[in-house]
Amino acid sequence: MRRSFIAGNWKMHKTPAEAKALAEELKAGLAGCGHKILIAPSFTALESVASVVKGSNILLGAQNMATVEQGAHTGETSVLMLKAIGVDAVILGHSERRHVYGETDEMINEKVKLALANGLEAILCVGETLDERESGKAESVVKTQTEAGLKGVSEAELDKVTIAYEPVWAIGTGKTATPDDADQIHKVTRDTVKSLYSEDAAEKMVIQYGGSVKPENAAQLMGMENIDGALVGGASLKADLFLPIAEYDK
Ligand code: PGA
Repeated sequence: MRRSFIAGNWKMHKTPAEAKALAEELKAGLAGCGHKILIAPSFTALESVASVVKGSNILLGAQNMATVEQGAHTGETSVLMLKAIGVDAVILGHSERRHVYGETDEMINEKVKLALANGLEAILCVGETLDERESGKAESVVKTQTEAGLKGVSEAELDKVTIAYEPVWAIGTGKTATPDDADQIHKVTRDTVKSLYSEDAAEKMVIQYGGSVKPENAAQLMGMENIDGALVGGASLKADLFLPIAEYDK
């Protein structure tokens, strides 16, 4: 039985003080929650949020990191810096990183391996664009991104990997994949893990859905056989929206 994993991606929102206030509300609201929960503020708010969630049942996430540990990389943030702050997991290959900032499968794979080598969990994001979906390529795109993202990752390391399926056309648009359509791609993703590793690895892999998840659709999406949680953007910025998603009943 896979444990539900709900993550909030705060993107480029909230100052350190605002982030701390939201983290405090979530910590109080989720004290009795049995699901795995993570919040990912921007880099500048990591430290203030870390001071709130430390020792609680909320994990701390970062939204990106560099492909290397240190060096002449102006504007980048190292895995070592994240670890030192107390970050537990890193969101990697988010579609905004892929499509706005030109991150390639190779770069994302480097980051996944580096995060794991340093003991952090990785949330590997995959998902097709609207063009790719309309030309019938959704399944092959997700399969390719999953294979490329996990290249060189051992089966033993997979317990620190979560995959997030986020159709690009559903992110921040209010459009959601139907639960059946989403489940179908989750199944393809799980089958890809099976062909890369084993049936056991595929059974254990937690695969989140992301893209306009709201309190109204969360339970239905996460109730699907292959959907094990959610990566939530917009609705993770307000406690009264994120709390009911995080506390949904499967
Ligand atoms: P959204 O974002 O929930 O605002 O659609 C999801 C994401 O980008 O992770």
